[in-house]
Amino acid sequence: MKNHSLKIAPSILSADFGRMADEALRLEDAGADFIHIDIMDGNFVPNLTMGPKMVAAINRATSVFLDVHLMVYHPFDYIERFVEAGADMLTFHFEATEDVEETLAYIRKCNIKAGLAFSPETSLSMIPKYLDKCDMILLMTVNPGFGGQEFMPEVLEKVEFTRDICNKLNICEGGKYAPEGADPATIKPFLIEVDGGINPQTAELCVNAGANVLVSGSYLFNAPDLKTAVESLRVKQ
Ligand code: DX5
Ligand code: ZN
Repeated sequence: MKNHSLKIAPSILSADFGRMADEALRLEDAGADFIHIDIMDGNFVPNLTMGPKMVAAINRATSVFLDVHLMVYHPFDYIERFVEAGADMLTFHFEATEDVEETLAYIRKCNIKAGLAFSPETSLSMIPKYLDKCDMILLMTVNPGFGGQEFMPEVLEKVEFTRDICNKLNICEGGKYAPEGADPATIKPFLIEVDGGINPQTAELCVNAGANVLVSGSYLFNAPDLKTAVESLRVKQ
């Protein structure tokens, strides 16, 4: 049975940068639910990737939901440029700004979804305060900055913790995560995304812990067939 509440978000960081429009189309054909776009500033993380012009180019090539992951300091200052470029969701790091609430509120005011990311070393005690102020919590399962790193299993505790609170607050994406007896109409959709080192084995651990969005870069792009690889991440419920 297909797990409908689970979203697969291939990270375009692992794509061929010389053919980004084609790569976006290839992800659409492979059944990607989101396209995850990693924006790095060479400062918050020691790597540089792409900016709003590339997001706009990807947006012209595909109608797939664009999940933009900002690994930059001063995320507030870039919101409008990424909204204009076509981002459907903007996620920034808790560790990158002192204005977390203002930044989340402004992203939502721009009529797109707002996500908040936590690096592996950040305490899970920081998470609950923001659950009613955003649409997604992104839990990094590697240190942000590079694709191709190894999954950090210690982050699973954070995924379980976030899922538990979401269930208590009656915010979740339905499916296996719906609290028992809950009326689906009253459940507020909420996304818990994991990012880094995701392959079929780690995907299963994350989904069992309560994640419902899986980002994957090197596993998908190194696979012989992209569509089969995307399907292999759809952990059964
Ligand atoms: C790392 C990025 C990830 C990365 C995932 O900072 O946020 O999105 O592209 O790549 P893999 O799946 O190769 O770990
Ligand atoms: Zn990412």
